[in-house]
Amino acid sequence: ADSLRDHAAARGKFIGAALATSPLSGETAYRTIAGTEFNQITAENAMKWDATEPSQNQFSWSAADTIVNFATQNGQQVHGHTLVWHNQTPGWVQNLGADALRSAMRNHIAQVAGRYAANPAVVSWDVVNEVFDDNGNMRDSFWYQKLGDSYIADAFRAARAADPDARLCINDYNVEGVNAKSTAMYNLVKSLRAQNVPVDCVGLQSHLAIQYGFPGQVQQNMQRFADLGVEVRVTELDIRLQTPRDASKDAQQATYYTNMVNACLAVSRCSGITIWGFTDKYSWVPDTFPGQGAALIYDEGYNRKPSYTAVHDALAGG
Ligand code: G3I
Repeated sequence: ADSLRDHAAARGKFIGAALATSPLSGETAYRTIAGTEFNQITAENAMKWDATEPSQNQFSWSAADTIVNFATQNGQQVHGHTLVWHNQTPGWVQNLGADALRSAMRNHIAQVAGRYAANPAVVSWDVVNEVFDDNGNMRDSFWYQKLGDSYIADAFRAARAADPDARLCINDYNVEGVNAKSTAMYNLVKSLRAQNVPVDCVGLQSHLAIQYGFPGQVQQNMQRFADLGVEVRVTELDIRLQTPRDASKDAQQATYYTNMVNACLAVSRCSGITIWGFTDKYSWVPDTFPGQGAALIYDEGYNRKPSYTAVHDALAGG
């Protein structure tokens, strides 16, 4: 067979997509492509704190279960996203004092990771997301303000206790190439592991833009994390451009997709690549960066773009 997932599996890698629950229930084309082209799924929003625990100790599983059930039906793995983040976290969490916040975090992790611990589809978690600011300093989030950096080690230990078999990841953006932020990430992962904190994996989100150039030394950056003994994964790949698309922008975008897939293929501890969506019909980019978009591998009508071919051919290459 000739799907992305067939070729990825033949190379020992996953090829994933982030999925949204609403088109998954409503659109046949969305379901068909999601179910046949990818072998790993991330919930774009359904497993975040605001979705899973909107009020304290009142858990809401329907959206998360929709994703996990779809993946199970299609023989796909699930990467859990995300247990601890500063965005999409309810106000009740942000208003807690330090001790109550630490307890709420531990409880949230125990409940959410614990719910899927026995489910063989759910193989990994983003335990903490975006703990750095853009300069590679600790982000001044409510987590950091109330708990200092101790919440990071604490979150990983709680996740290991909740699901001993899951790969536990730290995930961030602008850490794809070698730069100050990725070096800060490298130093943090090294120090956490030296303290026996159970960090198994580093996620490189990879929200790229053709107008900013391809990041420098991606393969070397992946390799330095691999050499620490952790898995590396591309977790949220998309490559935006200034809309409208044209043939030249599409070609440049396709080259970036090729480069990212090839970097992962070249590093044995790079386990795979997840694209943050798959169709330009549903993407966070235009909402966040007005005038930009067309970042994915299918167009808004579910037609394959040159970037689909780029990912396909890189995976099939070999
Ligand atoms: O749930 C409400 C819905 O009730 C309401 O009708 C609708 C109206 O706009 O908004 C819905 O919430 C939106 C939610 O996505 C679900 O669609 C939020 O406004 C919107 O802000 C939210 O955006 C998500 C964003 O994270 C928010 O942090 C994007 O879909 C999602 O792609 C994006 O993903 C993040 C990763 O988790 C972490 N890395 C960066 C990446 C891109 O920002």
